[in-house]
Formats: sequence, structure tokens, C-alpha cells
Amino acid sequence: MLISSCLNGCYGNEVSPAPANVDFALDVTSEPLTANGSSLIKSGIIVAPTLTGAFIAVSSACTHQGTTVQFQSTSSSFYCPNHGAKSSQNGSVTNGPASKALAVYTTTLTGTSLRVTS
Ligand code: FES
Repeated sequence: MLISSCLNGCYGNEVSPAPANVDFALDVTSEPLTANGSSLIKSGIIVAPTLTGAFIAVSSACTHQGTTVQFQSTSSSFYCPNHGAKSSQNGSVTNGPASKALAVYTTTLTGTSLRVTS
């Protein structure tokens, strides 16, 4: 029974597609985005400030099995606590077992308003 379920699901579990038709705005003065090492998740997208003061936004669901990734501010990268996958700030996988990049969204800062779009 266990072997049977692993053959069907230990690798490559279905993961929901990355959010599409994204268009929302955030106030960057909100607490989660101003604190060092901070990030926030909205509509399936994790938004975080980089070391250079820019903002990055990627899909928050790990492409391996869908666990919510965490932002690592010291390297401006994303880490999945489930099996240890890592992705760079451009979404590309730098450490498996995930094999597909996180979706990246466009961020546009106007004053204190950060617009995130696909
Ligand atoms: S769910 Fe397995 S590495 Fe993210």
C-alpha cells in the first residue's frame, strides 16, 4: 500500500498553478515590508524588499509540493522549509528537489505604493 502511494505521489505532486492576472498594490510603509528581513504574502504571492531597496515578488507556493516558501533576506532568496528547495530572487531553482522556477511578478514603486502585476 505504501509503495503504491509513493509510486503515484512521492515526486511530482500536483501543485496549483502560479497566480495569473495579478494586479494589486501594497503600501510599502506597512510593517511587514519595512522591517529588516521582512516579507508578506498576498494572493499567493510573496513580496519582499531586496538588499538594494528594490522589491521582488514571486509565487509563494513551492513548485515541488506547494509548501509556502520563506524569504531569506541575507541572500535575497526563497527557501522551502518542507524539503529544502531554494530559489534565487529571479525565481530560478538553486537547490532541489523543486525543478521548476517560481513565477516572478513585476513590481512598480510609485511613492509608497508598490504595484504587483503579472
Ligand atoms: S515542497 Fe518539497 S521542497 Fe518545497
